[in-house]
Formats: sequence, C-alpha cells, structure tokens
Amino acid sequence: MTLLNHKAMLKEFYCTEEEMAKLAQTLANFLPKSAFLALDGDLGTGKTTFAQGLIKALGVEEPVISPTFNLLKTYTGLKTVHHLDLYRLDHEEEVLDLGWWELLDDPAIVLVEWQNKFPDLKPQEHLQLLIKYHEQGRVLQFSAQGEIYEKVLEELIKCVS
Ligand SMILES: Nc1ncnc2c1ncn2[C@@H]1O[C@H](COP(=O)(O)OP(=O)(O)OP(=O)(O)O)[C@@H](O)[C@H]1O
Ligand SMILES: [Mg+2]
Repeated sequence: MTLLNHKAMLKEFYCTEEEMAKLAQTLANFLPKSAFLALDGDLGTGKTTFAQGLIKALGVEEPVISPTFNLLKTYTGLKTVHHLDLYRLDHEEEVLDLGWWELLDDPAIVLVEWQNKFPDLKPQEHLQLLIKYHEQGRVLQFSAQGEIYEKVLEELIKCVS
C-alpha cells in the first residue's frame, strides 16, 4: 500500500484489493460504535468490497451482500452496522422513507454507498471515502469532518505507515 497524500483531514492511499480489505479491517477497529461513513466512487470501484472487509472485521459471519437491490441491510457483530446503497434512488423522500434519520440516530456504524447522490442528507460530522480507479488497483481518498473522524484517520495513518 502506498500513502500518496497526508494532509490534516485528507488521506490518500493506493491499494490492491487485498490491501483494501486490510485497510477496511483496520478502520473497523477505530470507528466508534456510532459512526457515518460515506462510500463514494464510480460504478464498480469497490465500495461494496470495502464495506465487506469492514463488516467482516466486526465478527459478522453471514455473507455480506451488495445492498443495491435491497437498499438496506443491517448486521450485528461487535458493533451494529447499517449498510445502504442509494444508487437506485432518485429523490430525497425515498431516502427518508428508509427511516434515514432513525438509522443515523442508532448506536450503529452507517455505511452508505452512493451518498454523493444526496449530499444534503449527509450528517455534518462524517468520514467520506472516495474510491477511484488507478492502474491495477484503486486510489482511496479519505476525508474527515469533525474531531472524532480526524482522530480516526490519524490512527489509521499510524497503523499503515
Ligand atoms: N482495490 C481494488 N483493486 C482492484 N480491484 C478491486 C479493488 N477493490 C475492488 N475491486 C474489484 O472491483 C469490482 C467491483 O467491486 P464492488 O462491487 O465492490 O464495487 P462497487 O463500487 O460496490 O460497485 P457498485 O457501484 O456497482 O456498487 C470487483 O470485481 C472487485 O473484485
Ligand atoms: Mg456496491
């Protein structure tokens, strides 16, 4: 894994698929039991793959599926995780109908693929992961809003550098 960028609130890595799974596992350990992670990036960049690594690291044994069609799947491991995919939704009301604010109020890690379709619904404090295609692997760009998430990113950097 190569650290490409190391600014206060923005960290950027180049990862193979295997390295991405490890990074997701590491992040799982640092996220508080209530957290919001936006997973953004073009079609097929690896949002679900990252979510799978993170959810499995929390001790979930059942298969972690892509929520593209079910929209929402909840897992209970060491922490509770709500995994959402907003790709097929076009209107904010459809997102709200999922019980959006209740999900965000839960003591749970909320992982949202395609959050950037609904930027106004993102909580002010959050972690965002933008995944981009790069050569054989991916560039993972993390940005943090809020002190808690800035600390999480610092911990992540310490672990991988
Ligand atoms: N870091 C990586 N390097 C190379 N290939 C990867 C990496 N991460 C995931 N992939 C591959 O990319 C493909 C798409 O992965 P995935 O389904 O997780 O993408 P996605 O962003 O969730 O897609 P969608 O936009 O349809 O939800 C898979 O074949 C996976 O093996
Ligand atoms: Mg996906």
